[in-house]
Amino acid sequence: MPQATTQAAQSQRFSTPFAAAVHDGLTHAPQKELPSMYLYDEVGSALFEVITALPEYGVTRAEERVLNAHAADIVAELPRNVTVAELGSGSGRKTRRILEALCKKRPTEYCPIEISPTALQLCRRELGDIERISIVGYERDYLAGLAEVSANRKEGEVLLVLFLGSTIGNFARLAATRFLKSIRGMLKPGDSLLLGMDLLKPLDTLIAAYDDPIGVTAAFNLNLLARINRELDADIPLDAFEHLARFNPDARSVEMHLRAKRPVRATIRAAGLSVEFRQGETIWTESSHKYLAGEAGPLAADAGFTCSRQWLDNEWGFAESLLVAK
Ligand code: AVI
Repeated sequence: MPQATTQAAQSQRFSTPFAAAVHDGLTHAPQKELPSMYLYDEVGSALFEVITALPEYGVTRAEERVLNAHAADIVAELPRNVTVAELGSGSGRKTRRILEALCKKRPTEYCPIEISPTALQLCRRELGDIERISIVGYERDYLAGLAEVSANRKEGEVLLVLFLGSTIGNFARLAATRFLKSIRGMLKPGDSLLLGMDLLKPLDTLIAAYDDPIGVTAAFNLNLLARINRELDADIPLDAFEHLARFNPDARSVEMHLRAKRPVRATIRAAGLSVEFRQGETIWTESSHKYLAGEAGPLAADAGFTCSRQWLDNEWGFAESLLVAK
């Protein structure tokens, strides 16, 4: 998920970056919004893990199929002396095959970068049994973590950055290019980036993936309001909001919103806010942009990489692209 550092997040007026972001987002006109990175507290991260197992949400399984089928092939494209950095490793489950293939060749250092210490712990538990792996976790945001990994690398080591799970889709398109450029700025020529992208697919498949019939995605989205109540001394009536997933054809993205079912007034004390919602008004909480496989090349080129190989999952529609820093 994008780790936006907004002006507000740096503001001294609020006790936490979350409070500042909520203040800014809920006073944003005409569309109220909240940054998607805040969906992932303990409860949200647990709900996201459940989403990845839902039959309607094919993204994670598709990527696992690609990585399981092509791990040896992907590793064959890389130089021998690779250090792996993963942006937002989550539990690390998807990464196992690649790490096993690398460690078979030589001892490999794996650096998961995560703002959540719980995720880093999970990742160590999930991958710590791989022979000849050494895991060095970085409890940082993506770019700060990557800067450190890059600065700490040994002479002659080449970096492989993993940015999996189609998290790139949670950035607006221009921001995605900007983010890849920032990654490129921390790499040396010959380093590479393995990028997972979910592909455009029929509308009903897309909507079902973000509005599942048993309501896990709805709970994941509504948890953001519950988190505001828990952490920011707020009284938002959760039963007054409903989850909404809709396709934005111009952006080619699935948007998640929280829609007020009736007029609502709430107080969020730690954000210094008393806020009103009209019936039907929404808070925009996330966008998941969908790509065409052919867009990886131009995206890579704009950010200073060459797309050297691509592996596809045709069952769901997912692309894993290997971008090499020019
Ligand atoms: C983390 N990210 C790639 C997920 C996605 O598909 O955009 C987050 C998600 N939101 C709702 N379902 C899954």
